[in-house]
Amino acid sequence: MRRILVTGGAGFIGSNFVHHVLAHTDDHVTVLDKLTYAGNLASLEGLPVDRLDFVHGDIADAVLVDDLFSRVDAVVHYAAESHNDNSLHDPRPFVDTNIVGTYTLLEAARKHDRRLHHISTDEVYGDLELDDPARFTEQTPYNPSSPYSSTKAGSDLLVRAWVRSFGLRATISNCSNNYGPYQHIEKFIPRQITSVIRGIRPKLYGAGENVRDWIHADDHSSAVLTILDHGVVGETYLIGADGERSNKDVVELILGLMGRPADEYEHVTDRAGHDMRYAIDSTKLRTELDWAPSFGNFEEGLASTIAWYRDHEAWWAASKDGVEAFYASKGQ
Ligand code: NAD
Ligand code: DAU
Repeated sequence: MRRILVTGGAGFIGSNFVHHVLAHTDDHVTVLDKLTYAGNLASLEGLPVDRLDFVHGDIADAVLVDDLFSRVDAVVHYAAESHNDNSLHDPRPFVDTNIVGTYTLLEAARKHDRRLHHISTDEVYGDLELDDPARFTEQTPYNPSSPYSSTKAGSDLLVRAWVRSFGLRATISNCSNNYGPYQHIEKFIPRQITSVIRGIRPKLYGAGENVRDWIHADDHSSAVLTILDHGVVGETYLIGADGERSNKDVVELILGLMGRPADEYEHVTDRAGHDMRYAIDSTKLRTELDWAPSFGNFEEGLASTIAWYRDHEAWWAASKDGVEAFYASKGQ
């Protein structure tokens, strides 16, 4: 039985990965999570207790990390400060966790010679124009825009340096925008779904023309497991599911699926430095590692995500007023 350490496993994508691994393998999982505002132990409820341990701690705690690395075979590193809007408000935790935290994990992986997979984002490549036929590939130069994406870019570069300088057995993946169950309601799709449930009008930044490339979190998980099992050490893989949509289209789709008029939303203050468009070309992952997404249809994935938020109000209700108050203080 392989023992995997999953950092950030109580967050959105990390918890989806833990569910995926326990359902599709015989692996044992240890989650290391600081339980920041974004971590939620309820996201790990119902999983087999004999195959899952939880450790409450910080990835920048070198003593704790050293001990945990000595007891596992592989590490999948999700833990991060993940929200662009928060990084504009207070960048410091992004530097501490995304850069110093990743450095701490790399040093432990080097000392114990552990296989490590680093989770990153397409935002490290900056943004594309709406009419640009190009999509991001593994060769696209780094050009991050926000404090969040620049700290993720920094963490990627640290991983590459540890591979080249110390022979670390690491891989990197850069994925597009995820949606699905267990996503914090500060993020675009769950914010709008929970607002409609509460009778609040959805809020679109600026004109709403910005495009994101959506992938279901379970497809992200299957891609990461594929890379962990079959990826070539030292390589980077882009993960995406050809899901480009404008924010306006997504809001109108949510309203329609929830039985509301398609124009029942408001335009609010735009995000500073707002990236216009992300688009992933995942040919390398699909051809070299034979991966393909299971959620072919965004509308169906969105409908099941709406159903999940309707059925799990207890999971998000306590944070709704605070999230909306924070956005309201910024005119969003
Ligand atoms: P999230 O904010 O939902 O979860 C982050 C988790 O990390 C939380 O459980 C939090 O408690 C934990 N954490 C934060 N700081 C920590 C620390 N110092 N030590 C230990 N745990 C800590 O984030 P997410 O959306 O699930 O993103 C997970 C990873 O995936 C991040 O690395 C992010 O950059 C990357 N990513 C996200 C997306 C997306 O669409 N959300 C897309 C591509 C890549
Ligand atoms: O591309 C991958 C990235 O996707 C990840 O690296 C990040 O961790 C993740 O948060 C996400 O970043 P975005 O900034 O694209 O996601 P967010 O959900 O914050 O916003 C998606 C789009 O919706 C973006 O163009 C901003 C817009 N938006 C967001 C909110 C919260 C709105 O129009 N209204 C809103 O209320």
